[in-house]
Amino acid sequence: MSSMLITGANRGIGLEFTRQYLAGGWQIYACCREPEKAESLHELAEHFADLLSIHRMDVRKSEEITDVAKALNGAPLDMLINNAGIVDSYGRGVFEGKDDPDLKNYDFDLWLDIFETNVVAQGRVSGEFADNVAASERKMVVMISSGLASIANTWQAGRYAYRTSKAAMNMLTRSIGAWLEPRGVTVITIAPGWTRTELGGPNAHNSVEESITGMRKVLDSLTLEDTGTYWNFDGEQLPW
Ligand SMILES: NC(=O)c1ccc[n+]([C@@H]2O[C@H](COP(=O)([O-])OP(=O)(O)OC[C@H]3O[C@@H](n4cnc5c(N)ncnc54)[C@H](OP(=O)(O)O)[C@@H]3O)[C@@H](O)[C@H]2O)c1
Repeated sequence: MSSMLITGANRGIGLEFTRQYLAGGWQIYACCREPEKAESLHELAEHFADLLSIHRMDVRKSEEITDVAKALNGAPLDMLINNAGIVDSYGRGVFEGKDDPDLKNYDFDLWLDIFETNVVAQGRVSGEFADNVAASERKMVVMISSGLASIANTWQAGRYAYRTSKAAMNMLTRSIGAWLEPRGVTVITIAPGWTRTELGGPNAHNSVEESITGMRKVLDSLTLEDTGTYWNFDGEQLPW
């Protein structure tokens, strides 16, 4: 049976990944900050009691990451999905052009928070579970990036923290990829597309079902030869 650990599994993209892989018969270690409030996950657990376990993990708390690793006790992980993430423009309509690009007005503490969550934590989680992934059949680490991370595609002011954090996450993908390639682990980064979640907002183009169906198709198609590559949910390879 294939297995997966995913962070930020309680809502949005993480929850839909959990739903779809459970329906495909995968064993899922669903991680979230507050399991006691993760109602949607508990509803899923009622139907998939043998396949789904729910674990407490704030990706910024190393002791919680270690506790989950201890609970897994070396179990193989076919896929690790680093999904948890935060953004600097909730409710500000950045996609509608309402973001304030003036750096003088920027929240620099939030920038650090975003880097810790979207980059440093992803490195910490990947390091903690690298042996579990290397012990599996599929051996895949997935970073949930963004189209906004593409340096080549960007000539737009604003959203500095999110863009720089996801671009750094892309670099992390390349570096972790080179580290783990000798162990046969494929490490890739993928953009879910603009998706209707709390983060994406109600005007986004894609439903979570469309986004995750697309990403699963891309992930299914990738092999070790693709390690260190950057994809869009629709199968297009994105420029760095
Ligand atoms: N939606 C889009 O249009 C879009 C586009 C490009 C990329 N993405 C990326 O897709 C990923 C998922 O986003 P989403 O759209 O599903 O957003 P979302 O609905 O806001 O969900 C974000 C998830 O991340 C979790 N999270 C945040 N900080 C965390 C922490 N410190 N530790 C553990 N979990 C934490 C949240 O948990 P809580 O409930 O505890 O806050 C929640 O489960 C993110 O990495 C995001 O950058 C989304």
